Amino acid sequence: MSSSIATELAGAAFLAYPYPVYRRLIEQTPVFWLPHVHEPGGMWCVARYRDVAFVLHHAPVFKDTSRIAPPERLTPLDRAMLQRDPPDHTRLRRLASHAFTPRRVQNLEPRIEQISRRLINQIRERGTADFITDYARPLPIIVIAELLGVPFEDHERFSAWSDQIMIGSDSVLGGEEAAHRSREAMAALVDYFTALIRERRQHPRDDLISALIAARDAEDRLNEDELLGMCVLLLIAGHETTVNLIGNGLLTLLRQRDQLSLLQRHPEYLTSAIEEMLRYESPVQRSTPRFAAATFEIAGQRIEQGQQISLMFGAANRDPSLFPDPDRFDVTRHPNPHMGFGSGIHYCLGAPLARIEARVAFSHMLEYLPDIDLATDQPQWKPVTWLRGLQRLPISV
Ligand code: HEM
Repeated sequence: MSSSIATELAGAAFLAYPYPVYRRLIEQTPVFWLPHVHEPGGMWCVARYRDVAFVLHHAPVFKDTSRIAPPERLTPLDRAMLQRDPPDHTRLRRLASHAFTPRRVQNLEPRIEQISRRLINQIRERGTADFITDYARPLPIIVIAELLGVPFEDHERFSAWSDQIMIGSDSVLGGEEAAHRSREAMAALVDYFTALIRERRQHPRDDLISALIAARDAEDRLNEDELLGMCVLLLIAGHETTVNLIGNGLLTLLRQRDQLSLLQRHPEYLTSAIEEMLRYESPVQRSTPRFAAATFEIAGQRIEQGQQISLMFGAANRDPSLFPDPDRFDVTRHPNPHMGFGSGIHYCLGAPLARIEARVAFSHMLEYLPDIDLATDQPQWKPVTWLRGLQRLPISV
């Protein structure tokens, strides 16, 4: 079972449409062992919604990779909050929240609208576009770069590094070559942020890096490694996923024209439509790694202490025991307790920002691109299985 499922998950049909496989897993093997393809070991994958929720909220699991990996394999991402446990996680998340305030995020909205209008105008002038290159990618990248305080002219470079890190981190598809490129990209990103942090220490500005340097909690503050980890995490988490939400969301709307016209007639459904996009084509299909702190059982499967676990958000979000008619895209779906942003203590810190970006993007599309359509219905998906996003999406307007 395990090696055949690994082959299946690495196949083109799965990348194009993973949901029948997820349904079968939910029904037949809700917890299964997925071997790593290019290195020893593997991980338990959990597909059913209630089991995913159990692991996130109740199971004895930890995230701190430094407890199990040799120091030379750790990167700054391993020192960031996403791979830490309480009390370190609590402390890092609290310090980040001091800098990443709701006000800072809310204040970004006019700027997001401005960037979006400029990108849309360029598309309208040309009449055709690759929606990913011309809109879905630049919008979140410019936003997270400006938020952090990364100079505009460097956007392209760090976006390429971020892509390489994501592709190299896929244990199902990523080979030695991809892992090598990912390590090089991480080294380049670390050098880049080290220099930028040094500069901002001397000349603080009104940006998130300066705010993170200054963030204090009583006598506590971020040390150098933690600052670096935080910047790398925010940069990567802050754009890979939002690009995918906007790209996947548009493809879904253009394939389900009845839902698009319902939204055109009733823009008040935009908020629930975006939640449905997060459920229906989740940008994060599998969680980041967790490890069993003690042996425990789930859905009749014994997980040994130290073994790796991954939660299949993409499958859980289509679990029929929670979502009636789960393969139907319904912009009015309510309630919609999807796990597109995860759940529990690692629930996405950037969810409010991602929601604002998506709201601006789709309200502008409804308003300024009423005739938007697919130029071809053969979209190219990125060669990654734990994230879900398009490489290209040709459109006409
Ligand atoms: C549509 C866009 C986004 C999606 C779908 C998404 C999804 C997720 C998910 C599923 C997790 C939990 C992962 C796990 O438990 O293994 C997470 C965590 C996180 N996300 Fe996002 N994210 C998005 C946008 C953003 C943005 C814009 C930022 C920041 C600017 C961000 C920053 C973070 C951080 C810092 C964490 C770790 C939180 C913690 O460990 O406490 N994300 N995100």
